[in-house]
Amino acid sequence: MARATEAFVGEENITRRRLLNFVGWGSFAAFFGGITLASLRFFFPRILYEPLQEFVAGRPEDYQIGEVSTRMLKEQRVWVVRNERGIFTLVAICTHLGCTPIWHPAEDRIKCPCHGSNFLRDGQNVAGPAPVPLYRAAISLDFAGNIVVDKGRKENLLEKRDQPPFFLPLQA
Ligand code: FES
Repeated sequence: MARATEAFVGEENITRRRLLNFVGWGSFAAFFGGITLASLRFFFPRILYEPLQEFVAGRPEDYQIGEVSTRMLKEQRVWVVRNERGIFTLVAICTHLGCTPIWHPAEDRIKCPCHGSNFLRDGQNVAGPAPVPLYRAAISLDFAGNIVVDKGRKENLLEKRDQPPFFLPLQA
């Protein structure tokens, strides 16, 4: 009768008691091992390190009055625009679905190749499906006179975008 309760594993035969012992302690170890690993994992969170939102975009004299500069476009995805009153930036992300629009100097327009949105050089949306103007990033001068752009702070409301910190007044 005792032999009927024996199970055979490989070459060895073990009793039901030993098997249950093994399974029980194995489950116990797996459970607490899992909890321990999960607790340790807590101390090493998965963090997505994004590029810095703030960057230096040269000096005011690097930009000519009337220019829509693409010098920061590839690296930072912004245009730097200078007019008679000062400098501002336009974030090159279409406000429709996020494509990168293209500056067309001959037409004095920023056009999105995805669905045809058109923006004026001040970022105002004038055609296509984009529902709101392009955003402007905050812009200022540091102590050394360099232009500092902060893409972490953006604005596109008409009553705010032409004011500091989204517009840097300069003397012509
Ligand atoms: S993403 Fe620019 S028009 Fe659609």
